[in-house]
Amino acid sequence: MRIPDEKIEDVRNATDVVDLISAYVKLKKRGKNYIGLCPFHTEKTPSFTVSAEKQMYHCFGCGKGGNVFTFVMEMEKVSFVEAVRSLADRAGIVLPTDTQTPTEEESEAERLYAATRMAGLLFHEQLRSAEGQAALDYFHGRGFTDDTIRIFGLGYSLNSWDAFVNRARAENIAPDLLVKAGLARTREDGSLYDYFRGRAMFPIVSPTSRVLGFGARKMREDDPIAGKYINSPESPIYNKSRVLYGLSHSRDAIRHEDAVIMVEGYADLITLFQAGVQHVVASSGTALTQDQLVLLGRYTKNLILVYDADSAGSSAMVRGIDLALEQGLDVQVVELPQDEDPDSFVRVHGGKEFLSLVASSTSFIEFKARQFVKAGYFTSPERTTRAIRSIVESIAKIGDELKRNLFIKDVAQKFNVYESVLHREMEQILSRGRTENRIRTERAVPRLTEPTVSTTAEPQPAGPIPPEERDLLKLFLDGDRTIISHILETITLEDFSDLRARTLIRMVLDILDVRGTVDANAVVSQLTDEELKSIVTDVSLSRYELSKGWTAMEKEIDEPEPIQIARDALVVFRRKAIRRAMERNQQTLRQVTQQGGDTRPILERQQELVQMLKSLETSGARSKPSAQNRAS
Ligand code: CTP
Ligand code: MN
Repeated sequence: MRIPDEKIEDVRNATDVVDLISAYVKLKKRGKNYIGLCPFHTEKTPSFTVSAEKQMYHCFGCGKGGNVFTFVMEMEKVSFVEAVRSLADRAGIVLPTDTQTPTEEESEAERLYAATRMAGLLFHEQLRSAEGQAALDYFHGRGFTDDTIRIFGLGYSLNSWDAFVNRARAENIAPDLLVKAGLARTREDGSLYDYFRGRAMFPIVSPTSRVLGFGARKMREDDPIAGKYINSPESPIYNKSRVLYGLSHSRDAIRHEDAVIMVEGYADLITLFQAGVQHVVASSGTALTQDQLVLLGRYTKNLILVYDADSAGSSAMVRGIDLALEQGLDVQVVELPQDEDPDSFVRVHGGKEFLSLVASSTSFIEFKARQFVKAGYFTSPERTTRAIRSIVESIAKIGDELKRNLFIKDVAQKFNVYESVLHREMEQILSRGRTENRIRTERAVPRLTEPTVSTTAEPQPAGPIPPEERDLLKLFLDGDRTIISHILETITLEDFSDLRARTLIRMVLDILDVRGTVDANAVVSQLTDEELKSIVTDVSLSRYELSKGWTAMEKEIDEPEPIQIARDALVVFRRKAIRRAMERNQQTLRQVTQQGGDTRPILERQQELVQMLKSLETSGARSKPSAQNRAS
């Protein structure tokens, strides 16, 4: 079961942390690093930092940090071994102990993924069976090419009560997993039967391409189940409110276009994608949730809602608008011609035509106004007031005051009302909201915005590590042997006052002993303690502490040479050591004075220490460039 260290190393080398994390977080280059909104806690300004150079991440907001393995562990809720295996899969590396059949010691999530993966492969395979031909014809009939069918992993579930269950048994997948994953159901006598029978299958996958569940479309008129689509139930790996259909395929395009088109259906998404409109996700019939919008907000702030032009579609859209505005997204709306959905529109008019529809999308204000016109508002002053108030309510959801004011101006012009009246209306809504908010936050329970069930408590800070110890720790973690020996010539582990720093440096030295090389990433790989992990990523991705004073003056200034950092830190160590000696000496002095003994040697020692401190300060000052020197 144990994966050899070299293999783990191979997997780590084959995986780029920026690339991996980009599947979940929109990252922007900032200097040497990348920054984005932290996936582990809710934040408005990015403090989540990813270093390509160090292949690590750290959130300066919540303290979570780690490398590619810990990231997958958090996101997919799996163990270390499973994270390694997941990334090995992704990189095409075959692990010696890798088997398709998961073992007892693996987490439930991992075993559920194995079940859904098996199901996805089987359904896809069955498309090529005699019975599956009808489904294949159905997909072709909808205009899906074979490539598209492959890319989206479309499939067919046999019209049978036990075809799937039997196959799963042959593959050693435990019955309780099949039920939990929503692939099978239990009869009263305890036996299992297939949940999906004779349906066209749309796998729903995570941003890292794990199968989470399925949407299953009716194909035959005699299908006894009424619903046009039936879907996998929620499960430990499938949280509907946090998943958007198609995102694993569209995320690059969304980032590239800096916009996302939101449609309703599986087929809408696939048809658009095939027609070259690839920055698209589907809400899959459920109402948009806050979590889905938070997820999208990591990729882009520009949301284009395209809903079917039926009334169910537009009322879903109205709800979506307010939620999206609340999340700080810019919302545009596309209205399709009557009785069309994106799928039917694109099949008739093509992707280009669809994009020009998108280009002429309207603001949410325009859209809401039109809805009210359609519903016969604006016929009496009372109804007009209600319509305008509803629009102002949407505007009040926007966090940005400047934006709010611009939209108010817009409404004032459009409906020919005084801006001041609208502002007063908005103020009222806002102050109402503030009171509600206060009540809500007073009772608030921290909400996780990501598919993670990590219940680990926030690391309890045992006080910050002193700056000079942090700097030296950083040098140890960088793994330069020359620097490390230089430091160890002057001080020992026991000179560190912080126990966490001691533990970490001991680890660095141990790894160095065994492997001959070390870096922060290697240390993180061996750590299970959240706080220590956080310290390592924090220290490694931060600037040196002692040089902060003058680096703050010129932000992009190069960091000083490591040897200089070491000297500066060691000066501080030595100063502290001398100070401690002076204190002890003072104590002795007091005792000896009380006892009436000879104080001369003690006073001499004190002089000596003062002298040492003085010469240390002058040499320290010389070795540390002043802000003025750097500026010239
Ligand atoms: N949906 C669902 N259950 C239903 C109906 C719809 O889950 N009984 C979801 C599906 O994700 C579907 C989406 O809502 O894709 C949109 O529904 P609808 O517009 O009715 O379906 P279409 O996507 O147009 O379906 P198709 O084109 O396959 O007829
Ligand atoms: Mn449709």
